[in-house]
Amino acid sequence: MVLLDGKTTAEKIKDSIKLELNGLIAKGHRKPHLAAILVGEDGASRTYVDSKERNSLALGYDSTILRLPVNTSEVDLLAEINKINDNPLIDGLIVQSPLPAHMNETLITQAISPLKDVDGFHYINMGKLARGDKGFVSATPLGIMMMLEAYNIPTSGKHCVVIGRSNIVGRPMSLLMSNSGPYGNCTVTLCHSKTVHIEHHTRQADILIVALGKPGFVKANMVKPGAVVIDVGITRVDDASRKSGFYLKGDVDFEEVKEVASYLTPVPGGVGLMTIAALLSNTFTAYKNNIGL
Ligand code: GUN
Repeated sequence: MVLLDGKTTAEKIKDSIKLELNGLIAKGHRKPHLAAILVGEDGASRTYVDSKERNSLALGYDSTILRLPVNTSEVDLLAEINKINDNPLIDGLIVQSPLPAHMNETLITQAISPLKDVDGFHYINMGKLARGDKGFVSATPLGIMMMLEAYNIPTSGKHCVVIGRSNIVGRPMSLLMSNSGPYGNCTVTLCHSKTVHIEHHTRQADILIVALGKPGFVKANMVKPGAVVIDVGITRVDDASRKSGFYLKGDVDFEEVKEVASYLTPVPGGVGLMTIAALLSNTFTAYKNNIGL
């Protein structure tokens, strides 16, 4: 089994962005700028946003995090989004989810300019993906495509089974894998919570992508020998013996599945790091569009 190493792969992608960016800066262009809005105090969301900022700064981007109190009104949040939409010096905007219960996440997502929607959640970008047109693609599925490409894993004509139909991962993933292109061209099966005999489907998969948020769900007997297995799960499991109070567990039973898979992503150290690299790549694309390249 070959471990799909998110750390080295993400570093390579970031290095290539940095090289290209240094060339642009040497020519007198400004830096790319990613803005994030965080509403409330959710621990995991704070960690994600801080990590996006750290990675942005490390790459030489400008970063702005707008931290708003949990009781912020929808109107006030929309006003902040509009200010950023109108700011020509900001290239990308993400509003970290989940949002507090009093907010309509769909409404907020659609308020972000599609040109700055580096999360790829806007109807226009989702629609472009569904049509196979160029647009911003959600960072986790995009990062997984980059990982498959980095390891030269053939996808054309393969059977890809995706578990999970979220707008952030499962659905865009199923579209990317079925679209035509250098990476894609798969026959895709999309499984979800109402799928019956899920193991019947997963055992047919040449490429199995698991994004359902149930730690250890995929066991060895659900995997075809030699399959490529991509684990998107990152559930926090309480563990008093750790300083953080938790550890991260994927949706795949790593110890079992490593005996049957040909390629497997670890958790942590797999897809999570690719997500950040893909977000930085989307932001770089938005920036190049903005500076007229
Ligand atoms: N919450 C969980 N994943 C994501 C993501 O990719 N983007 C945003 N904005 N929020 C998230």
